[in-house]
Amino acid sequence: METIAPHEIMPFIMRLAEKAGQIIMSYYRDGFRVHGKGPRKDGIDIVTDADTASENFIMAEIRREFPGHDILTEETLTETTGSKWLWIVDPLDGTVNFSHGYPAFCVSIGFMENQELIAGVVRDPLRLESFSAVRSGGAFLNGDPMTVSKADGLSRSIIATGFPYDRAYSPINNVAEFCKVVTKVQGMRRGGSAALDLSYVACGRLDGFWELKLKPWDMAAGMLLVQEAGGTITDRHGKATSIHTDSIVATNSRLHETLIGLLAEV
Ligand code: IPD
Ligand code: CA
Ligand code: CA
Repeated sequence: METIAPHEIMPFIMRLAEKAGQIIMSYYRDGFRVHGKGPRKDGIDIVTDADTASENFIMAEIRREFPGHDILTEETLTETTGSKWLWIVDPLDGTVNFSHGYPAFCVSIGFMENQELIAGVVRDPLRLESFSAVRSGGAFLNGDPMTVSKADGLSRSIIATGFPYDRAYSPINNVAEFCKVVTKVQGMRRGGSAALDLSYVACGRLDGFWELKLKPWDMAAGMLLVQEAGGTITDRHGKATSIHTDSIVATNSRLHETLIGLLAEV
């Protein structure tokens, strides 16, 4: 049966993420419209012209190059055909940041074969940074090998998290968890882009990250980055995750047990 070698597909994914990043940047410079989305249309959960244009571009390229593959993406409901290959795409992660001109957003593209992540790229179009990984092939930042940090105590660590869009209405909103951790760490960050947070764990700028209720497109590429960079990914209970997990904890491995233990106190 046909297989795709992850390192062979990597140049395609890199180009896709870079070009999508350029599309996003053209809207960042020239302006864009913002629309509400989500069940409550309360103006918190939004989509911009940049999200849509980036997604349309990525989907068209994948369909042209790999017509039989399935695609799971944030802004378009797609039908799955049962293909063994699945692309998981966040065309713009960090949309709230983007819409305020806050410089922290990215494109995230993960690629799975038989339900296993085999390649992933996160592209930061502002800093021109591409975080990439292939299964069993290591993780890279702009082509140079990257590894997780060596921090082994929470009091010497920077930890990041995030809060779900339904935080005002749902009791599962990460506020109690945040309060538990914030007093124990050297620095706490809420970057506003889960895919970048995971990339930063992978390259050692962050020592750990957790979040609840993320979606597959927020996590797919970043999960592989962290694993290939020597980090650990589980759910908040320390159990193995999939791209559909309802909580994610990503660390440099050394801090994993401590962070899981702290979250378990909530
Ligand atoms: C969001 C960002 C944010 C996280 C949210 C995500 P979006 O993705 O990753 O950091 O806290 O849960 O939904 O909406 O900007 O693609
Ligand atoms: Ca996202
Ligand atoms: Ca998004």
